Amino acid sequence: NMIRFLVASRLRVPVRLYAKMAYSAADPSTCALDAFRSSIAQRVSAALSPLTVDQVYSGVDYGKKGVDFTIALPRFKMGKPDDLAAKVLAQFQPDEYIESVTHDKAFLHFQCTSTTLIRDILTQVHTLTHLSPTPCYGSNASGKGKKVLIEYSSPNIAKSFHVGHLRSTIIGAFLANLYKSCGWDVVSLNYLGDWGTQFGLILAGYEKYGSEEELQKDAIQHLLSIYVQVNKDAETDPEVKVEAARWFKRMEDGDEAALKNWRVWRELSVKKYAEEYERLNVAFDEYTGESQVGQEWQDKALARLEEMSLIEEDNGARKVNLEQWKMGKPVLRKRDGTSIYLTRDIGAAIERYEKYKFDKMIYVIASQQDLHVAQFFKIIDLMQFPWAKTLEHVNYGLVQGMSTRRGTVVFLDQIIREAGQVMHEQMQKNEEKYAAVEDPETVSREIGITGVKIQDMAAKRINNYTFNWDRMKSFEGDTGPYLQYAHVRLSSMSRKNPELLPLPHPSQIDVSSLAASSHAREIVFLLGSYPDVVKVAMKTYEPSGVVTFLFRLSHAISSAWEVLAVKGEPDLEKARARLWMYECARDVLGSGMRLLSIRPLDRM
Ligand code: ARG
Repeated sequence: NMIRFLVASRLRVPVRLYAKMAYSAADPSTCALDAFRSSIAQRVSAALSPLTVDQVYSGVDYGKKGVDFTIALPRFKMGKPDDLAAKVLAQFQPDEYIESVTHDKAFLHFQCTSTTLIRDILTQVHTLTHLSPTPCYGSNASGKGKKVLIEYSSPNIAKSFHVGHLRSTIIGAFLANLYKSCGWDVVSLNYLGDWGTQFGLILAGYEKYGSEEELQKDAIQHLLSIYVQVNKDAETDPEVKVEAARWFKRMEDGDEAALKNWRVWRELSVKKYAEEYERLNVAFDEYTGESQVGQEWQDKALARLEEMSLIEEDNGARKVNLEQWKMGKPVLRKRDGTSIYLTRDIGAAIERYEKYKFDKMIYVIASQQDLHVAQFFKIIDLMQFPWAKTLEHVNYGLVQGMSTRRGTVVFLDQIIREAGQVMHEQMQKNEEKYAAVEDPETVSREIGITGVKIQDMAAKRINNYTFNWDRMKSFEGDTGPYLQYAHVRLSSMSRKNPELLPLPHPSQIDVSSLAASSHAREIVFLLGSYPDVVKVAMKTYEPSGVVTFLFRLSHAISSAWEVLAVKGEPDLEKARARLWMYECARDVLGSGMRLLSIRPLDRM
């Protein structure tokens, strides 16, 4: 391997060709930086036997400030760092991958050879974006052959689609994109709250308050208003609740008369949601819901827990005692025999396994429901399903203060509309620029949605945050509009410099001018780290890591504009190399935005 590696690196064969000799974690065919890390690992392992290349490789970290890669020597537990460093330094010969090594206390710092770094990374970005069947720079095949079910959004029909559902939608869409880019077969599910006593209430109120016309106009809105009115009635008239329970019981028993209206409501609501999800650039493979869960497994769950003596009667209702796991005693079946949220979740999970035989199933649900999710995972586990361990709960904190100028937001379409309007007004403030925008409605809506999404994903999921329209619409600072602007500006480069097009084949572009620029080096190194950003996101499930990366990249680019100008650069070789770099930067910025479910704009 060592010999093959040396031969390969001397001959400067394309990174793809020696992908096979790499260590478990290294794959230069998808991450050019892996070749540089491999080179470091080879050298250090050769100098410090019996350390294996693999052992060293996993200790090659990104360096801080101006350092490409760093190794913390104490991690090898092989004696004094000074002695180890001396050995590595004594044997060191610069080559095309690594140009220098320095020793600083417990650390070894390595610098990559700039020309190779720039050529290899830009070539890889270009090749995997433009010369492969589908753009795939940043992707990897770690999930090949595996299937994941991701359940997210899951609003309640006839109740409001609140910002909590919006967060689930945004985070879930990100996870679905992320898993796809790691080679997984992804099935995305929307588990609608389309069953339960609230429908009994609406059925009870429909005769009094229902209107066919209103329903056709906006089903979601109409059903919510009925729901609100009936609830008010129920405050003064206890009969309402009784009647509602009767209606729901009829639904559970499959009474066609009760189900007829419900079916229409569901269909109209799904149609409306699907349109709104489209605007958000979010899609589901399946709209399922609590109503779709069969009785069989709910009964079996109860029987199994009964066998384990965990079931207790309480005034006709049946509860499961999960106190030994500090999870309380949730009700599993009501006194009238109707099911509840928890039982339906249990049944649904089992049915999904039967149907999809997933390798993993992820639920994106607010942290307010942590206990509920823990209870239902526990019950699946107690039922001894081997796949119980593959269930994952991705939780998130509250959003505060998201209301429109007219009042509290309860509907998704209000949020989308408000975001577009706020953005539109903002853009109109700059008359000259505004006049140049071709389709201000669409552009402002897209930027508005970007603003909402970026604000949502900017911090760790678990944090609560307060939504701020002023921040959302700002083109300055780390905001959605700023990112879109950065992408638009990069996209305009080739439009503004047609005389440089088409760019020559990557092998014909002279990158030496870029190698000499610290600005270019910084940008390109960031581009090279994008495949790692994706891998880290797979571990943390934090979109914020991707957001941070995109801002670092945008900042690096904006500080390069003047120093590395394309327009007006008399040396055409230089101008082409710069244009190529900006195009690669556009590709990576765009991929990262798409990963976050954002549609990057080419013009504004
Ligand atoms: N519809 C529920 C709600 O709005 C969220 C459903 C979450 N998913 C689940 N499998 N329990 O609170």
